[in-house]
Amino acid sequence: MLTRQLARTLQRRVTQRGITTTSSAFLPEEHQMLQQSCRDFADAELVPVAGEIDREHRFPTEEIKKIGEMGLMGVAIDPEYGGTGMDYLAYSIAMEEISRGCATCGVIMTVNNTLYAYPVEGWGNDDQKKEFLTPYASGEKLGCFGLSEPGNGSDAGAATTMAREEEDCYVLNGTKAWITNAHEADCAVVMATTDKSLKHKGISSFIIPKGTPGFSVGKKENKLGIRGSSTANLIFEECRIPKDYLLGPTGNGFKLAMSTLDKGRIGVAAQALGIAQASFDCAVDYVQQRKAFGAPISQFQMIQLKLSTMATSLDQARLMTWHAAKLCDAGLPFTREAAQAKLAASESATMCSHQAMQCLGGMGYVSDMPAERHYRDARITEIYEGTSEIQHLVIAGNLLKEYSL
Ligand code: CAA
Repeated sequence: MLTRQLARTLQRRVTQRGITTTSSAFLPEEHQMLQQSCRDFADAELVPVAGEIDREHRFPTEEIKKIGEMGLMGVAIDPEYGGTGMDYLAYSIAMEEISRGCATCGVIMTVNNTLYAYPVEGWGNDDQKKEFLTPYASGEKLGCFGLSEPGNGSDAGAATTMAREEEDCYVLNGTKAWITNAHEADCAVVMATTDKSLKHKGISSFIIPKGTPGFSVGKKENKLGIRGSSTANLIFEECRIPKDYLLGPTGNGFKLAMSTLDKGRIGVAAQALGIAQASFDCAVDYVQQRKAFGAPISQFQMIQLKLSTMATSLDQARLMTWHAAKLCDAGLPFTREAAQAKLAASESATMCSHQAMQCLGGMGYVSDMPAERHYRDARITEIYEGTSEIQHLVIAGNLLKEYSL
């Protein structure tokens, strides 16, 4: 009974935190202000409802609207096209704070920012940007990204969705799988093969708005975590789209997808940091209040070992994420660093949420405290936008190129 009362008190305190394990003092002032405003928003508007969003599998419509009003649905997109015009360091800071409050909101935000808006900005022509970027980067509309297929997840180059060219249009047939925001998105960036004989060099990208005849969405997956966001198939059956919907040159789709995922991985790393930090906050509060063997359990070295292990891994992962973002902002290569950040941060989230649950004992396993939700939410960060195993391939492949004799 005592632990349940403690849980209620701590639930209230967790909403009033406002520190991270890594010092932010060296960040530019603009970034510190962004961090504080996202933190205040997350504490006031997201932490109190994140449990309910998860329990009811509720898409957070109102919360995402407010996130859009704060300029966070197109953080690094040019203001000419509805974005905020900040950099990827700012984006990763904002993503972490939003995800600390609610990991479901974090994934909806990262997919719109990096998987949808970034490629439309990078490869779209002016007309495409006006129609398919401005309302998305400003948060009025929502986008999604179709690369994986039921039979091809990690092997993205083996896509079987076809785009047949006809005189005045392309005709798509095939299914895209595991698509975040599938049900709520107004438009999708989709990879489809225009020339099978060229393998990955025959894949092209298209912008396909919802409502296009022949484009439908499958059933919502029933997921372990991030349960407020929808994940479903995008299905194309003789779906005819005007040639204007081709995004970038034909045959450029695989490269577009890979460079989009480089930015996406910074976003997922930052989401994982938010989950790891929320887990740490929950544990560090609990162990100072909970007494056993005549003392707060924070006095015991076994618990201190857990706190120090969590904080060290979180700091490492955050510095790696900020480093990848800063390379990207400087226009330097960052593929390897983004993969390393995603690997480190997602494994840190899994470890921190596991250890937080150990600190809370039975209270960590029940939904009175958010620890069990963080544990479930953390897991997907090691899977989507490339599994940890794929990140190792990307890291090793790039290292070998950098060190080639
Ligand atoms: N940027 C630009 N180009 C790149 C690149 C990058 N980061 N990485 C590779 N390329 C280029 C290469 O230079 C090469 O070009 P050339 O053909 O001109 O030489 C070409 O792409 C092929 O490269 P690889 O030979 O390295 O490609 P591969 O077939 O061996 O695949 C892979 C590499 C790393 C395994 C890749 O398939 C991959 O990243 N797979 C994982 C896919 C993934 O993350 N899926 C998640 C989808 S999104 C999602 O999760 C859903 C959601 O809604 C959140």
